[in-house]
Order: sequence, then C-alpha cells, then structure tokens
Amino acid sequence: MSEEIEPGVTAGTAVESDTFVPSEEIKEGEDQIHIRNLSKTYVTEDSETVVLEDFSLDIRKGELITIVGPSGCGKTTILRMLAGLIPPSSGKILIGDRECTGPGSDRGMVFQDFALFPWRSVRKNVEFGLEIAGMPKEERRERAEKYLKIVGLEKFADHRVHELSGGMKQRVAIARAMVTNPDVILMDEPFGALDAQTRNLMQAGLLKILDKTDQTIIFITHSVDEAVYLSDRIVILTKRPATIKEVVEIGWPRPRDRASPEFTALRKRILEELEKENVLE
Ligand SMILES: Nc1ncnc2c1ncn2[C@@H]1O[C@H](COP(=O)(O)OP(=O)(O)OP(=O)(O)O)[C@@H](O)[C@H]1O
Ligand SMILES: [Mg+2]
Repeated sequence: MSEEIEPGVTAGTAVESDTFVPSEEIKEGEDQIHIRNLSKTYVTEDSETVVLEDFSLDIRKGELITIVGPSGCGKTTILRMLAGLIPPSSGKILIGDRECTGPGSDRGMVFQDFALFPWRSVRKNVEFGLEIAGMPKEERRERAEKYLKIVGLEKFADHRVHELSGGMKQRVAIARAMVTNPDVILMDEPFGALDAQTRNLMQAGLLKILDKTDQTIIFITHSVDEAVYLSDRIVILTKRPATIKEVVEIGWPRPRDRASPEFTALRKRILEELEKENVLE
C-alpha cells in the first residue's frame, strides 16, 4: 500500500491541497526551514525499515545546502518529507512557522527519475505548474521560454519528452521546478544523469540563477566535487538509518576554483568521511 500523500508528479506546482499562505516575511540568511527530530520507518506487510533517526537541521533562506551520504541511506526520503509527499514517523518540519503537512507551491521538486509527462511537449511540461496556477497563456509561454533558455532547450520546446535524451529530460525537470519561482527548490541528484561537461554547465547556470533570486535550494548529490562547488553547507549523512555525521560550512565566494588546494583538500576530507560509511550490508 502506498503512503503517498499526492502523486509525486504534482510537486513543484500549485496543487489542489495547496493551502500555503506565507505567514511571515523571512529575510535572506534567516532560518526558514526547521527540521526537528525527524524519523522515518517504512512499514510494509513483512518488514520495517528504519531509514532516518532523529534528524534535526535549520536551513536559512537563500541557502544552497547539499546532502551527501551512502546510497540507500535515506536522502530521497528526507526530500520527499520536505516536499510533503510522505509523512514522517515522528518529528516535524516547519517552513517559517507553519508545519509542513502536504505539498505546496512554496516548494518545487526535481525528482531523481524526472517524473515528466511523456505525452506532453517539452514546453507543455515546463508550463504545467503555471497552467495549474491559472496564469494566462501568453505570460505562461514567456516564462516557460525564459527557463527553457536557461537550461538550453529552447530549440526543443515543441518536441515530445520521449524524444529526448536522459540528460535533456533532466533539464526539462529542472526548468519545470524553477518556472513557478518557488521559495524552496528540492533537487534530488538533478545533474546525476548528465555528462560531465553538461553537468558543469548546469552547475554554473544554477549559480547564475541563484545570484538573481533568494531561493533556498536543498540539493542531493553523489558527487562530492559538485557539493563543494555549489554549497553554502554540506550535510554528511551516515549509512542507514541516516543521522547527521557532520555539517560542513563553506564560506568561500563563488564561482570556486576546483583546482585550488583548499577545494581539493576539502573534497578529499569529505570523500574519506563518506568512505567510512560505505560498507556493504
Ligand atoms: N516506499 C518505500 N517502502 C519501503 N522502503 C523504502 C521505500 N522507499 C525507500 N525505501 C527504503 O528506504 C531506504 C532509503 O531509501 P532512499 O531512497 O531514501 O535512499 P537514498 O539515500 O536516496 O538512496 P540513493 O542514493 O540510492 O538514491 C532504502 O533502504 C530503501 O529501500
Ligand atoms: Mg535517492
């Protein structure tokens, strides 16, 4: 039995259950998301899997925070709870002073498996959230166009999604999550399917977008290099059940030089921490 609150594909858009009304103005740099003693156990007919234990974290408005940890430790689970797609077993998530109890247009999500509409064109996928929000056609088209340009897909706007490569699909998913301009963007390995060159371009593109907005980004990645390149803070998780092993604050300006001694030293240290967690069960 599924415990999904809403089908995953609706996150990142205004949905029927969306009751989000900002109740306070949070300024850049102030705490925006409060995760308190979050735990999650998946219960199926014949098993119980404890995935997350006592996870607490405050996330600031405008911050880019990455979460790294061994495969299967519970990263996607954390993001799905933040998106309001699955309920925690205990603990809570506050966005501002409101408890997160379901999906909302204040949060956009880029899923690990894209979750696009295969029968819609690229443009129509990107426009989806705006359509649901009732934006007039012309305005919708203009906004979608802008984000298609950002992800370099303006020439493919009228293609069907099934005609695209994996990396291109992922870029459509990113444009779709960003186009509604949500306060918080949840990204589950958004660049994981991209080749190294496109990945670097997308990372630089993401930083450019962030320069112009005060969106908060919670970003999961397997790439420590990507985490050090992008993050204000990196949360390192232990193996399952995931708990926080360390939070690394990076105060360096961006763009960062991957070849610099401090970059390579930090990357090495985090990789070593992760290796200690990467034991096969
Ligand atoms: N719906 C579910 N029902 C039961 N168990 C689940 C469910 N979803 C995930 N799990 C289990 O919870 C654990 C954590 O899964 P999750 O997808 O959060 O890991 P992850 O850190 O994102 O992994 P990866 O890095 O491979 O994407 C895994 O052991 C997985 O099998
Ligand atoms: Mg995952």
